[in-house]
Amino acid sequence: MRSELAPQAPGFNPALDKGGLMSPSGGLLWHLRALRYRRHWRPFCAAIAQWLATWPHGREHLLLLGPSAGWCLPTEFLATFSTIHAVDLDPLAPWVFNRLHGAGLRRAGVRVRWQRADIFGSLVALLATFPGHAVLFGNLLGQHRLYCTDVAAAEVDLQWLTQQLEGRVWASFHDRLSVDWAPNRAAPERVCTPRSLSSEQLARHFGSAGVWTDHLTAEVIAGDVECHYLPWPLMPRRLHVVEAAWHADAASVP
Ligand SMILES: C[S@@+](CC[C@H](N)C(=O)[O-])C[C@H]1O[C@@H](n2cnc3c(N)ncnc32)[C@H](O)[C@@H]1O
Repeated sequence: MRSELAPQAPGFNPALDKGGLMSPSGGLLWHLRALRYRRHWRPFCAAIAQWLATWPHGREHLLLLGPSAGWCLPTEFLATFSTIHAVDLDPLAPWVFNRLHGAGLRRAGVRVRWQRADIFGSLVALLATFPGHAVLFGNLLGQHRLYCTDVAAAEVDLQWLTQQLEGRVWASFHDRLSVDWAPNRAAPERVCTPRSLSSEQLARHFGSAGVWTDHLTAEVIAGDVECHYLPWPLMPRRLHVVEAAWHADAASVP
């Protein structure tokens, strides 16, 4: 069977309870952490806003995947669409998102719909239902390994997922690596490269003697696609290296 016809990622397991309030990448713990550290996240959020502003998506509608409450997403960017279909497993995400972005989006006339679903089980149907939407993964893909006991299966799922996106206008920012980081050590400089860097190159550039966690997203961005690598101090003692890249229609690229 051709992989793009497969309705679900190969390792997708609907029995795993990923969407709980204490889930490792969403839910109550995530929102409390965001509330506590959002001041430290400002440079990272500003870098995401700058990068999103360069995406010539040329679309009126957005399929927003794994945005949580959009703690790191700028309302100004979201307001460039007239409708947003947001998908996340976290039952709290719509409510907190509305607190953060609702007023701004209502003023701009943007309509937001929510769906609680697992991307690895629903992506094919979502892409078919919204064929003209731009697609944005909002820091979801690097979280997949947190839910998978089998690293090889997680990698296969991510490969499958990027195959589904062929021909689409899409963008993603996602964890590539993370590492323990001394709280008094300055965050490293961000870097932009003409194509994706390997995990070894990234670890060398961001320099740490610690043990890096690989988030298995090295193959998400393939070919000659400009990549931004942004340091994100998730917590005072933990640094994430986030990769951000977009794909646009040839017609929309200035
Ligand atoms: C790190 S948070 C995203 C943070 C977001 N960028 C922000 O600005 O707040 C990752 C989100 O992805 C969601 N998520 C993780 N795996 C998912 C999956 N397989 N399907 C749908 N949502 C998922 C989690 O529920 C969580 O809300």
